[in-house]
Amino acid sequence: MANTQKAMMIVDKHYKIGKVDPRLYGSFIEHLGRAVYEGIYEPDHPKADVRGFRKDVLELVCELNVPIVRYPGGNFVSGYNWEDGIGPVEERPSRLELAWRVIETNEVGLNEFCEWANKANTEVMMAVNLGTRGIQDAKNILEYCNHPGGTYWSDLRKKHGYRDPYNIKVWCLGNEMDGPWQIGHKTAEEYGRIAYETAKVMKWVDPEIELVACGSSSSKMPTFPEWEATVLEHTYDYVDYLSLHIYYGNQDNNTPNFLANSLDMDEFIKTVISTCDYVKAKKRSKKKINLSFDEWNVWYHSNEADSKLEPWCMAPHQLEDIYNLEDALLVGCMLITLLKHVDRVKIGCLAQLVNVIAPIMTEKGGLAWRQTIYYPFMHASNYGRGTVLNPIIDAPKYDTKDYMDVPIIEAIAVENDDKDELTIFAVNRDMEDGVDLECTIAGYEGYKIKEHIVLDGDDVKASNTLENPNRIVPRNLSNAQIDGEMLFVNLPRLSWNVIRLAK
Ligand code: AHR
Repeated sequence: MANTQKAMMIVDKHYKIGKVDPRLYGSFIEHLGRAVYEGIYEPDHPKADVRGFRKDVLELVCELNVPIVRYPGGNFVSGYNWEDGIGPVEERPSRLELAWRVIETNEVGLNEFCEWANKANTEVMMAVNLGTRGIQDAKNILEYCNHPGGTYWSDLRKKHGYRDPYNIKVWCLGNEMDGPWQIGHKTAEEYGRIAYETAKVMKWVDPEIELVACGSSSSKMPTFPEWEATVLEHTYDYVDYLSLHIYYGNQDNNTPNFLANSLDMDEFIKTVISTCDYVKAKKRSKKKINLSFDEWNVWYHSNEADSKLEPWCMAPHQLEDIYNLEDALLVGCMLITLLKHVDRVKIGCLAQLVNVIAPIMTEKGGLAWRQTIYYPFMHASNYGRGTVLNPIIDAPKYDTKDYMDVPIIEAIAVENDDKDELTIFAVNRDMEDGVDLECTIAGYEGYKIKEHIVLDGDDVKASNTLENPNRIVPRNLSNAQIDGEMLFVNLPRLSWNVIRLAK
């Protein structure tokens, strides 16, 4: 028989972590697998618009309310000639794409992507190639994108039919340059030098831009966190953010351990903040470097299928993880972890957006559907904007293979000042039992429960598939109650919860 556990939480209107930068809810589209071709772009699809973009996919992206999308990679960018993707489509070359061992036709390039981003109501976060290329090409692409006119590259943009500059604000200085798998992999010294010189020139071209230097590809890299310190010692004065990437998997099918991985993410963020501040102190600098967590997700389901793919095909089914309920719960815990650090994490990119380790899946010529991980992201992106409050949580704890003292509850509260709303996001990690959560909401007298949304299910391994796209969908519960400054709510076992309070 199921028991009920108890947990306690205190949030106070005056005890704040910081404001959410909306770009925390960014995402990522790489030229990889079917993210672009058959994902956002499929000209022959019945729902394609005149430019070939799938309107059904655009609708799902808009529902997620994604303010920024990183492009065009990823590992792809380290071998990419951005000029291959501009100008008349029929003249664009097909290339061997070495990062993912496929053929890239270049039918979609930066202009098409910027058009798509406009339709998706999102900004572009552009990455430059520091693998096979360098300062000159970074300068050229920035001039093409952001310079108003009267120069070779800006006039070429106009000639291509795009009169106004894009004014792309955020630029990544390469991708995962610490990884031996990267085309043009570098040591921290080599990368630090090229990133510094590229950043300097890019800011001369457009002083309004913000630059992201590559941090480690994950906290498990042997060069972490020495890489961060060295790179920042070179680039500190010219960059604004340092990147973090992390993916988790459940290869050994150990759900309690898998759901605890957000504790590792939390440690990762803390270490990177400390490293940034160490370099700040060393340089006697007044400037603060913030964090861009520009790749994060669950990624492992597709590993075996990907290892069997034949090379040199076009838009293969690559990195097509089909996510289950437990993945959605970890994604929820990871979102809460990002929210706990909004004072330093300003940009986040769920990697990725469509088909490739993505919340949205498509069938060629057919359906587009929401994966399980779509829901926590959509809830956080839509209701988790405003000011994050620092919670005190007292909950039972458990130990796993890799973690000690894992609280069964992961939770955070976000006040949306414009709407007089307070939203509590909470994951119950407990495998067996629901949790009765008693939450003090100091300073929120008169607030009422608007809704309690839950994502849960009888089978933590269940997924949404083409055949059954609505197997795991959120439902509303009505057990939450408010008495003065006390909120009482039951969080079902293995569940993602959104408790929305309003005046
Ligand atoms: O998102 C998939 C890949 O993961 C990206 O191309 C790379 O940056 C990371 O290793």
